[in-house]
Amino acid sequence: MSDEKVEIASSQLGTKDFWDKRYEMELNNFEEHGDEGEIWFGASAENRIVKYLIDTKTEKDVSILDVGCGNGSVLRKLRSKGFSNLKGIDYCQKAVDLSNAVSESEKEENEELINIQFEQLDIISPRPDFFTSVFDVILDKGTWDAMSLSDERDRRLKAYLQFLDKSLIKGGRFIIFSCNFTFEEMREQFGNSSIEIVCEVPAAHSFSFGGKQGVTSTGAVFRKTS
Ligand SMILES: C[S@@+](CC[C@H](N)C(=O)[O-])C[C@H]1O[C@@H](n2cnc3c(N)ncnc32)[C@H](O)[C@@H]1O
Repeated sequence: MSDEKVEIASSQLGTKDFWDKRYEMELNNFEEHGDEGEIWFGASAENRIVKYLIDTKTEKDVSILDVGCGNGSVLRKLRSKGFSNLKGIDYCQKAVDLSNAVSESEKEENEELINIQFEQLDIISPRPDFFTSVFDVILDKGTWDAMSLSDERDRRLKAYLQFLDKSLIKGGRFIIFSCNFTFEEMREQFGNSSIEIVCEVPAAHSFSFGGKQGVTSTGAVFRKTS
């Protein structure tokens, strides 16, 4: 096993304890200083998600679920662009509290903003009643990256695929952004007989290193076929 794999396997980012502590701190920061916390993979990844949805002529009222929503930033960005049926889930209650607090403070500034629903849910062991609704679009920005940093990666991937199967409408899209996996690796992990790969989300910016072009995160789009 390479050094890199040893480092990944022992990462704290794969544990709930890490995220509970982090969002407790971020919620305190928001309450004390108005700092909403980190935007994972930067604003450019959010912009790519929004641009992809708009470029593919996605209706503004489709139901969109963000899994592992963190501080709810991507959903708030979608709201600012007119998307109106938005829900975020995260297994940390403090992330849900932070998302609600930031979202409400934006609404105080602009009363016309719609409400975003945020809910505590572990996608590995979801409550059965969660599946009473299905979604047109499911987003993941950095959540599978964090979840996969565990010795339990295979079991978690299986549970994640079951979650997608139950919560994505037939014909619906799953859009995932990663800094850990290549497009091909994501295709191998998430593509199966009922979820097919559609495309890679184009990069907004790329960097050049050693004569090679690269992007900071990779976005992949899948569609549920059955
Ligand atoms: C790298 S952060 C990304 C947060 C957010 N998507 C963003 O882009 O800002 C990973 C997020 O996944 C959440 N998470 C990890 N495992 C989860 C699980 N099993 N169910 C729900 N959320 C989970 C963490 O609490 C954290 O908010």
